[in-house]
Amino acid sequence: SKQTLLRGRVLSFTAEPQGPEDTSAYEFIEDGALLVADGMILAKGSYDTLAPQAAGAEVIDHRPHILMAGFIDTHLHFPQVQVIASWGSQLLEWLNNYTFPEEVRFADAGHSAEMAGHFFDLLTSHGTTTAVAYCSVHKTSAETYFTEAARRNMRMIGGKVLMDRNAPEGLLDTPLSGYDDTKELIAKYHGKGRGMYAITPRFAITSTPGQMEMAGALVQEHPECYVQTHLSENHDEIAFTAELYPQARDYLDVYQSYGLLTEKMLLGHSIHLQPREIDALAETKAKPVFCPTSNLFLGSGLFDDAGLRSRGITNAIATDIGAGTSYSMLQTLNEGYKVLQLQNQKLHPLRAFHWITRGNAVALGLEDKIGTLDAGTEADIVVLDSRATPAMDLRMQRAETLSEELFILQTLGDDRAIAQTYAAGKPMKPAA
Ligand code: GUN
Ligand code: FE
Repeated sequence: SKQTLLRGRVLSFTAEPQGPEDTSAYEFIEDGALLVADGMILAKGSYDTLAPQAAGAEVIDHRPHILMAGFIDTHLHFPQVQVIASWGSQLLEWLNNYTFPEEVRFADAGHSAEMAGHFFDLLTSHGTTTAVAYCSVHKTSAETYFTEAARRNMRMIGGKVLMDRNAPEGLLDTPLSGYDDTKELIAKYHGKGRGMYAITPRFAITSTPGQMEMAGALVQEHPECYVQTHLSENHDEIAFTAELYPQARDYLDVYQSYGLLTEKMLLGHSIHLQPREIDALAETKAKPVFCPTSNLFLGSGLFDDAGLRSRGITNAIATDIGAGTSYSMLQTLNEGYKVLQLQNQKLHPLRAFHWITRGNAVALGLEDKIGTLDAGTEADIVVLDSRATPAMDLRMQRAETLSEELFILQTLGDDRAIAQTYAAGKPMKPAA
């Protein structure tokens, strides 16, 4: 089979860096190479070592760019590609005024398929090779999502949202239809190619207790699947949830009492938490998801990364498109850094780049497949140009260390800094 040798400055993490100087947590090869075939990384090493072993391979020279594992976005909404940048409101009003009317359109398979093409183009042009997405309530939206993922051979996770109240008529399923559609989608797409399914009750407000019960049954019947929802994003949301679920001890208890809370659960936002909820997250090893651009855009609040980490909780990080304002995981780090600054918390660049690659893979339990450039893993690779813009180039003239270069990338970088993205070894951009 055809082999490709990608040459560049290879950076791959082996653990979470414990500080800005922690060189034990990564491997950096200045003149490095990756030998790729059949969608997998066969070897990682210095160019001089690998070149003789790869005599017949096509060599693609990406120097002086950095080769890194493709970025992983652990929470975003596929039907919100035309919602991003909608003015003026906080969560509940934003959902009702902008988001729900837009999601109604995804009942149409043609519209859904067209948007899926744009969505996947946007992900890879921003360096993202794996994403965990909410589709709309319509089964067809999940079908177009997984079909497009398979066409591009990308490791994508997603699910149709379960929602049976507090939304427009065209966006409601029922406990039974949501259950049946989810079962069918799991059978059709989970573990088929690189697709994986996430059981997706949207959030407490849009599901009746009857639907939560059915979601709990799905989780019990499909422990191989992820579970995703939203938690404690906004004060009005939390108050409404308490009204709808008066027996629940707190917001998280709505999910916990129906059996949804496991280590496979991703909880978008998780901002305004009670001590008991933090205990429950720590005990169950569920994963809060930090969505900095979204939390700033909707005025939701500041995610307490250090507080949760100090309890041994593994936080994921994500864009949350379309409340999030950028598809770029670099820009997500940029805003995340500022959210943490406001709380006297620090996000150093080594941990930042670990987070959007291996860290998010660990949160998904997929670090043996994606998130590093180790031999035997899937060849999802991003090529980073640290001098992509005049501002970056000028600043790079004063950069002396790898950490400085990475911090410039995470602060000033966006899709212009993505020179190429490989999904399963295949370039997603036309070669320059
Ligand atoms: N909570 C429930 N649905 C949504 C959504 O689509 N976006 C955000 N940010 N929060 C939500
Ligand atoms: Fe969200």
